[in-house]
Amino acid sequence: MHAAVAYEGVGYAYPDGDGQPMWAVRGVTLTVACGEWVALVGPNGSGKSTLAKLAAGLLVPTEGKVTVCGIPTDDESRIGELRSRVAVVFQNPDNQLVAPTVEEDVAFGPENLGLAPEEIRRRVDEALRVTGLSALRDAPPHRLSGGQKQRVAIAGALAMHPEVLVLDEATAMLDPQGRREVWATVRRLHRERGMTVLFITHRLEETLAADRVVVVADGRLVASGPPREVYADPGRLEALGLDVPPVVALRERLIRRGLPLSRDVVTRDELVTALWRLWSTA
Ligand SMILES: Nc1ncnc2c1ncn2[C@@H]1O[C@H](COP(=O)(O)OP(=O)(O)OP(=O)(O)O)[C@@H](O)[C@H]1O
Ligand SMILES: [Mg+2]
Repeated sequence: MHAAVAYEGVGYAYPDGDGQPMWAVRGVTLTVACGEWVALVGPNGSGKSTLAKLAAGLLVPTEGKVTVCGIPTDDESRIGELRSRVAVVFQNPDNQLVAPTVEEDVAFGPENLGLAPEEIRRRVDEALRVTGLSALRDAPPHRLSGGQKQRVAIAGALAMHPEVLVLDEATAMLDPQGRREVWATVRRLHRERGMTVLFITHRLEETLAADRVVVVADGRLVASGPPREVYADPGRLEALGLDVPPVVALRERLIRRGLPLSRDVVTRDELVTALWRLWSTA
């Protein structure tokens, strides 16, 4: 069984023209298993989007190797196969929309997969529905708001039925309701179809449902583990310039005030339960 995404000793330097390579990521070895949900966090400029582009084959590594479902991303003869397996949505939707209407934009990827027209129609309808875009299907994408454009980009990715979905701060512009809807849809596809998810976010509370949190800083992996493990030591994340999830920050403040709380507590429900237990045994 192949891993969903495997980075092996990966380095990437953007070409800057004057000789000295400037490494955006360096020495990254990371395996994302099929069906796994990995949250990737790190400060601005730490290399998250570069890792996303490497996973989607939009960049090929300067050193090392990236494979997606066993396909090396630098194998040009398999680029079509790669495109059918992995979809990526970035934070800036403006550069991602290509067609004259929302519907055609969402259909663009599935059409390139050579699917039957009925299948394309079915996928497009479903993707528009779950992203709340059905009423805007005939609208030209350039007239949409930022959040609406972001929904179109997400719909386009979902319509590909990818094995691996990479969301690079793809819900940053959505309103809370939209963010919840997209979140619920991606969770469902992950659960029901075993879709692998690489979820890049600055909102650390969005990482709590992940199987694993991977922290990057300065182009390198600095922590990797289940959320509970990574957030047991919030001082380390703060030192890297990352905000810890609000519940973890509150937990730490309460511990400093002398409450005997376990560092296993990471969700609001767990905090309420733990406080309730302390209160009722006091
Ligand atoms: N097109 C580019 N050309 C040259 N350097 C780049 C390019 N894109 C990114 N970089 C550099 O690579 C490094 C990593 O950038 P990257 O966009 O991967 O970071 P990021 O973690 O996604 O940041 P953010 O949280 O701001 O999105 C940064 O130092 C950045 O300046
Ligand atoms: Mg980025």
